[in-house]
This record gives sequence, C-alpha cells and structure tokens, in this order.
Amino acid sequence: MKKKADSSVEIHPILAERWSPRSYDGTAELSIADLTGILEAARWAPSSMNSQPWRFVVARRGDHRFAQMTDAMAGFNKEWSPKASAFILVAAVTTQDDGTLRPAALYDAGLASSLLTVEAHHRGQVVHQIGGFDHEAIKRDFNLAPEITPIAILAIGKQAPADALESEALVQREIGARSRLPLESLILSGSL
Ligand SMILES: Cc1cc2nc3c(=O)[nH]c(=O)nc-3n(C[C@H](O)[C@H](O)[C@H](O)COP(=O)(O)O)c2cc1C
Repeated sequence: MKKKADSSVEIHPILAERWSPRSYDGTAELSIADLTGILEAARWAPSSMNSQPWRFVVARRGDHRFAQMTDAMAGFNKEWSPKASAFILVAAVTTQDDGTLRPAALYDAGLASSLLTVEAHHRGQVVHQIGGFDHEAIKRDFNLAPEITPIAILAIGKQAPADALESEALVQREIGARSRLPLESLILSGSL
C-alpha cells in the first residue's frame, strides 16, 4: 500500500513515499548486505563535534535478541512488530565522562536513525520507529552501561498488504491517511 506525502512542492521520492507501515512479510529475511548498508548510512550521519554518540543492538527475527525486544514491546506494538525481519535498538551515550549531560546526543541519534531509514527504503525495506517498549527491561536485558540511554527500536522488513494484519484496528490504522501540521505552523519566524 502506498501513502505518498501530500507535500506543498515535490520532494525526493524516497522522502515522499516513505511511511511507517505495520504490516510486514513474516517470511522475509534482511540480507547481511542490506543490514550493513543500513548501518553504514547511520554511521555517516553528522553529529555534534563528530562525537557519534549513537549505539545499536542488532536483532534478526529468530535470534534471542529479537525475542527479548519482542518481549519488551508495549501494548499493540507486541502484536504487529514480530513479523519484521530485524529490530535495531537505537541508543545514545547521553552523559560525558565527568557525568554531565551531552545535550546533543539524542538529536545526533535521531539524525543517524533518519539516514538509516532513508537507506533502508532505498534498499526496498520499510522502517517503523517504536518508542513504546519497556526501557528498563531493555537496559537490563542488553546490559546497557548507565551512560547509554535506549531511545527507539526500529522495525525493519518487507512491507506486506494491509489486510495481512490480524486485527481490524490495525488494518484501519494501516489504511488511514497520513497527516502533518501545515508548513506555515512550523515556522516561528521568517517567511517563505
Ligand atoms: C520516537 C518515535 C516513537 C514512535 N513510537 C511508536 C510506537 O510505539 N508504536 C507505533 O506504532 N508507532 C510509533 N511511532 C511511529 C509514528 O506514529 C509515525 O512515525 C507517525 O505517525 C508518522 O507516520 P508516517 O511515518 O507513516 O508518516 C513512533 C515514531 C517515532 C519517531
């Protein structure tokens, strides 16, 4: 199913056509070449002082990390996400050696996730960002150091038809329109 952005002017096709489906082909595998390419794209993101504070845990459907992340999913995320081919936990080093906060770390990790998402779509995969999971369970299960903050789990895989989803509520979400705030409302000051 396609849900092209209704943008005010043409934007790059990947950016217009990317969206966040929840219907995945539960038999599709993510190749090592695609997984590597997706992570390379994240690696080359810009960051504050080139600090590169993003960290990842890579899980592929069928392995124990994937099962741990599935267990940590909250609410309806537990229902649709396990058909993804891979989960990538995105975390960031949010404190410096002296214990003070790294103010740009979450921004940097978001930038890396954004480039990762574009590369994944370029490779024929879809990505759905998930913030609804048990962050404490993830910290414990993956033995994350105190300075590392889990942020999101990215579900990556091959898109399946909307009606492959098991519940009607999920099908309705899948076929629902995408919406955004109007561009003018995002610009606090300065005219186009
Ligand atoms: C940080 C973050 C957390 C999110 N958490 C969830 C989530 O827990 N479950 C879910 O189904 N979607 C989640 N989403 C997906 C958003 O709902 C989705 O990106 C937004 O509705 C825009 O949809 P679109 O990407 O299809 O345009 C999350 C997105 C982000 C960026």
